[in-house]
Amino acid sequence: MKILMVSSEAVPFAKTGGLADMVSALSISLAKLGHEVKIVIPRYYSIGRDALKLIPGAMGTPMGGGIEEWSAVFTADMPGTGKKNPVKVYFIDHEIFFGRDGIYGSPIETDFMDNPRRFSFFCRAVFQLCRKLNWYPDVLHAHDWPAAIAPVYLKFAERAAERAKDSDGDFKKTVSVLTIHNLGYQGIYHKDNFDYLGLGWDVFYNSGFEDWGMMNMLKAGLYSADKLNTVSPHYAEETKIQVHGFRLDGVLRYRSADYTGILNGIDSGLWNPAVDTYIPQTYTAKDLSGKAIAKQALQKEFGLPQDATVPVIGMVTRLTDQKGVGEMFGPTYGSAWSICRDMNLQLILLGSGEHWCEHEIGSLASRLSNFKAKIGYNENISHLIEAGSDFFLMPSRYEPCGLNQMYSLVYGTLPIVRRTGGLVDTVENYNEATGSGTGFMFDELDPSSIYNTVGWAVWAWYNRRDHIEAMRLRGMTHDFSWEKSAKKYVDLYDEALNRK
Ligand code: ADP
Ligand code: GLC
Repeated sequence: MKILMVSSEAVPFAKTGGLADMVSALSISLAKLGHEVKIVIPRYYSIGRDALKLIPGAMGTPMGGGIEEWSAVFTADMPGTGKKNPVKVYFIDHEIFFGRDGIYGSPIETDFMDNPRRFSFFCRAVFQLCRKLNWYPDVLHAHDWPAAIAPVYLKFAERAAERAKDSDGDFKKTVSVLTIHNLGYQGIYHKDNFDYLGLGWDVFYNSGFEDWGMMNMLKAGLYSADKLNTVSPHYAEETKIQVHGFRLDGVLRYRSADYTGILNGIDSGLWNPAVDTYIPQTYTAKDLSGKAIAKQALQKEFGLPQDATVPVIGMVTRLTDQKGVGEMFGPTYGSAWSICRDMNLQLILLGSGEHWCEHEIGSLASRLSNFKAKIGYNENISHLIEAGSDFFLMPSRYEPCGLNQMYSLVYGTLPIVRRTGGLVDTVENYNEATGSGTGFMFDELDPSSIYNTVGWAVWAWYNRRDHIEAMRLRGMTHDFSWEKSAKKYVDLYDEALNRK
């Protein structure tokens, strides 16, 4: 199959979260299964041109109001995909939209004002890219709201034009799949932006764009794509009910025959304690000595006493409401303060995000000797935290899949998680009576539930060490490889193709 991934992020080129990991890892796995995969992302300013190859000739993209946007296209092979069937990555280079710091925003403008233009142009340019390459995909696979209107262009611009000419058009056989990674971000903008998209106003009113007078880009994609999915089975169910549907539960119920959940895998070349180059010594379930060394290195890195007997609880997270940071670090009510005050443990955090939260974390760390934090983004330290911690805390409000709990499990680090989304599909709650399970779970997102569940894990650490060791090994042998999930995507693509 010829598959085109349309995304705003892909590791190692541009990343703000798990979306970037998922797009690249899935593409690599599909290529290993023999499919021809290309990824297209914008060329942000942060992606240096020197390492890329320019495809000669400027490319024009027709937008609304007769505007023709001219862009350049660069390309590179996805690192680690080998020579035989490399995943090709294409970069749409358009200075006025992408020649700036930040993918979606900057510290002073958190959501760029021209995002509806930036990403609608990007989605439209994807089709021009295919023409330029004279390569037409069987499956156009779009990810999240920035790519969500690529399926809309396929349906209402490309296919409509082909129907009008009644000829075999370039995209006549192309089907579309839209993956929801996070329903909390939908790309909702003023409808004044709609003219630029170059689609008729009938499309605005009849095909999902219209949202209480505003323009909703994800919603339009959910109406138009041939197949929809999200990144775990449990989140797929949750999103069809009001509390998790972010006002789109009705649309998802309406499309439920075409909507499914496929659990993300993890990239075992990158996240695997047996081969990890970021940790001082690799390790496996058979010999955990490298994990003890990683714990020491982690304690040293964060300036904590190097004590093997104290449990280390790690966190690596975007500091945003989705991740339960209010309940954890909120001033006066967050549980971090009482956890560190009352329990014999060390708490370590790496993260960045909302300013109030970065500030509170700094303030807490200055008052508590057993809480240390680094604000910022650091790949190296994130691996060290996964390897060197004993527990990994994710008190998410909602979690479409979550990658860190899976990384934790394969690194022998026990997750402490809220029972939501993909966390339900990947973590099995500890049973004190039998010792079964792979982690610790709680239902309500409130400071006392976090406090009590961390307390439960710490109790088990000091009183049920045999259970802790058995749970570690159980987690480490779990198969979270992408191969299984990639095959499910192939099935989904097949369904989309057969239906046509
Ligand atoms: P989300 O995409 O919602 O943030 P995921 O668990 O799917 O959540 O993925 C988060 C990814 O981003 C993981 O690979 C995690 O290690 C990484 N990450 C998040 N914050 C940081 C940070 N400050 N430094 C390094 N990696 C980070
Ligand atoms: C989103 C979700 C996260 C998921 C990731 C990759 O960022 O918040 O739960 O793991 O996408 O699909």
